[in-house]
Amino acid sequence: MPLLEVENVSKVFPTRSGSRGAGGNVALHNVSLTLEKGGSLGIIGESGAGKTTLASLIVGLERPSQGKVRLDGVVVGEQMTLAEMAGRVQLVWQDAAGSIDPRMRIGVALAEPFRIQGLKERGRPDAIGRMMEEVGLSPALARRYPHELSGGELQRAVIARALALEPALLICDEPASALDARLKRQIIGLLERLGDERGLSYVIIAHDVGMVRELTSELAILYRGEVVETGPTDAVLSDPRHSYTKRLIASVPRLPRRQAG
Ligand SMILES: Nc1ncnc2c1ncn2[C@@H]1O[C@H](COP(=O)(O)OP(=O)(O)O)[C@@H](O)[C@H]1O
Ligand SMILES: [Mg+2]
Repeated sequence: MPLLEVENVSKVFPTRSGSRGAGGNVALHNVSLTLEKGGSLGIIGESGAGKTTLASLIVGLERPSQGKVRLDGVVVGEQMTLAEMAGRVQLVWQDAAGSIDPRMRIGVALAEPFRIQGLKERGRPDAIGRMMEEVGLSPALARRYPHELSGGELQRAVIARALALEPALLICDEPASALDARLKRQIIGLLERLGDERGLSYVIIAHDVGMVRELTSELAILYRGEVVETGPTDAVLSDPRHSYTKRLIASVPRLPRRQAG
């Protein structure tokens, strides 16, 4: 059984004008995707393609207008509460920095998932320190406030918080779009290591092929709410079928090579 199954999912938002009978704004149309346990899936598409909407549906924050999302065969939003979902799948939001309360010290923010789940003892400082070390952060940063961290450190902190409840699946919505090439490189290394060490499955959402090329084995191209192409990442990128995919690949320079140290 696949870890994640998106089955003929459509999402229609009411149009802002509220006009009746207009049919609404179709953010996703008949999207189907699967991800096996331990696998990695890239989703790329331009701004407005429906990427964040898809991420929200997978974690149960939005409900599909049609179709179903299943995690381990269980229908998201119907057979599982949000609290149960939190232990299986986590989303690292597009605006990672904005997802940590600016008034909370980092250590307190990282203990939050445990507090919310009633697992307070797991949020002790030594445990938080280990979580931070695992993503390459000094435990000393636990006492700092978000604005006292660099962009890369904050991104790592958000990933650490997302991994606190040991989900099987991590969704990263444009995880490094605000970071420079060197920090992107570091985040790629971190996600690769967590995939190897924990058998973590992940979905990487991006508007270009840079990170996805290196991090994912399967790829889906989202264009105006529809999956127009899907397959093994290498195959899709080396022999794109759809004209939109060809344009996407042509427009993006490769990331700089990995550097020693
Ligand atoms: N909560 C919402 N209400 C109304 N329309 C929305 C909402 N969220 C997204 N949309 C619309 O859905 C479409 C896809 O948006 P989004 O999923 O954010 O795309 P992406 O993440 O690929 O940039 C856009 O037209 C956007 O305006
Ligand atoms: Mg988005």
